[in-house]
Amino acid sequence: MVDAVSERLSLLVDLASLVTREVELDVLLGAAGERLAEALGADRATIWLIDSAAGALISRIGSLPSGPPLRLPVGRGIAGFVAREGTPVRINDPRSDERFDASVDRATGYLTKAILAAPIRERDDGPIRGVVQILNPASGSFDDDDLRYLCALCTQLGRALALTTLRADSGAAGLVLRGPFNRIVGTSAPLADVYLRVDRAAKSDATVLLRGATGTGKGLFARAIHANSKRQTGPFVVVDCTTLPKELVESELFGHERGAFTGADRRVPGKVELARGGTLFLDEIGDLPLESQGKLLRFLQERVFERVGGRTTQEADVRIVCATHQDLEAHVATGRFRADLYYRIRVVEIVLPSLAARGGDERLLLAEHFAALYASRYDRPPPVLTEAARSHLLAHDFPGNVRELEHWMESAVVLSDDGILDVPSFPPARHSLRVERTQVPVKPRNSGEVRGEEVVLERDLPLDEAARRYAVATLAASKGNQSEAAKRLQIGRARLARLLRGE
Ligand SMILES: Nc1ncnc2c1ncn2[C@@H]1O[C@H](COP(=O)(O)OP(=O)(O)OP(=O)(O)O)[C@@H](O)[C@H]1O
Ligand SMILES: [Mg+2]
Repeated sequence: MVDAVSERLSLLVDLASLVTREVELDVLLGAAGERLAEALGADRATIWLIDSAAGALISRIGSLPSGPPLRLPVGRGIAGFVAREGTPVRINDPRSDERFDASVDRATGYLTKAILAAPIRERDDGPIRGVVQILNPASGSFDDDDLRYLCALCTQLGRALALTTLRADSGAAGLVLRGPFNRIVGTSAPLADVYLRVDRAAKSDATVLLRGATGTGKGLFARAIHANSKRQTGPFVVVDCTTLPKELVESELFGHERGAFTGADRRVPGKVELARGGTLFLDEIGDLPLESQGKLLRFLQERVFERVGGRTTQEADVRIVCATHQDLEAHVATGRFRADLYYRIRVVEIVLPSLAARGGDERLLLAEHFAALYASRYDRPPPVLTEAARSHLLAHDFPGNVRELEHWMESAVVLSDDGILDVPSFPPARHSLRVERTQVPVKPRNSGEVRGEEVVLERDLPLDEAARRYAVATLAASKGNQSEAAKRLQIGRARLARLLRGE
């Protein structure tokens, strides 16, 4: 049994790890809503985002995801009150509170008994982006601790929203997916060809297969297809086929009914259902176990499915985008991947070029883009690349492609005091590892205490590289102040300097 305290802590860690990665907004909100309800022992969590143009709140994720999103004018009901006033609210007897609006209950057939709600802001003094609302705790009422916890979580969510690329950068409230290729950098010929195909694919509902080596931007372009399609206001749901154990794939994709197997104590919707009206991104499709490929094929052909343990056939209007870095043709030849499924997912194929194929100019353009991005994220001076640094970037072969370049630039920005990015700020050559996809949160040593920042490291790192990255992250969390970072790490400044150099 996971006790309530560690459940709450692990939720914060989860969000922190999502925040430090390229954020999938819907995944983040979905995970937050689900786990939040669990951590607070509540029946339901809803995350409302503000659509400022319409002056309305839109329910983006609820823990009962079936049914269309709800809309509520700002000012109406408890969520509307929080959206207007920006203050958190705790109510254990809603019907005696005049701010409570019973019309949502009437529309959903739900009986609200207790409410906890808090605003989401990107910065303490920034505009309100949304509201998180939690309903009906098993204990019957919410206490002050619950409210403090929810507020801490909203701070994290706000930070995630501030970092996600899928938003307007004008500071307008609400989430707007803008521009054909928001924040995708590159103008080289191979990339121009990708844009053309992504653009065409986005205009249709055809199934897309994105191919390319690790770190070439498959995830990014999958989102670009969604964000530029007519489904852009619908959900974007990711299934990472590498992390799914064989036995769980079917239930992950199609959901299960209560009692479908041991431990299935409630009905859980599958990713296909969650993606209704939007896009389902099947990442690393080459890892989908053979046993489940037939079920997926049927869904692709007929757009119908059954939940595990369920009898009724369901429909879902979902657009499918797949990605792989593997040689699917070889998998088909050896019988690891079904030929019929292979043809089904390859309707539109888009091959992403390696960083090397994109030429030196583009590499430097990307380097400058990431330097500027991380300088603003870490509040560092405007970055300038030295000539030596440029030559160094051009000489390295970046097997981890754009992602590896991104890590290099992040590290250089963090290590530079004055914004001058020079060769010594880049990782030593021996550490240019292939980038692992799986990340595990590193829990603070004393996990009884919530720290302001959590650090996420990739699995299977050599210890000295892990130590270096942890030191870099701590320095970043200390806003570049080396004395403070050394203090946090309980080591001297000289030792910190050695750690940062990877010694
Ligand atoms: N053209 C680009 N412009 C800006 N950023 C990019 C570009 N291509 C990739 N990136 C960034 O590089 C990182 C890696 O991209 P992404 O995760 O999409 O790669 P991937 O192909 O899915 O990798 P993997 O196979 O390892 O999952 C991300 O942070 C992404 O935002
Ligand atoms: Mg990816």
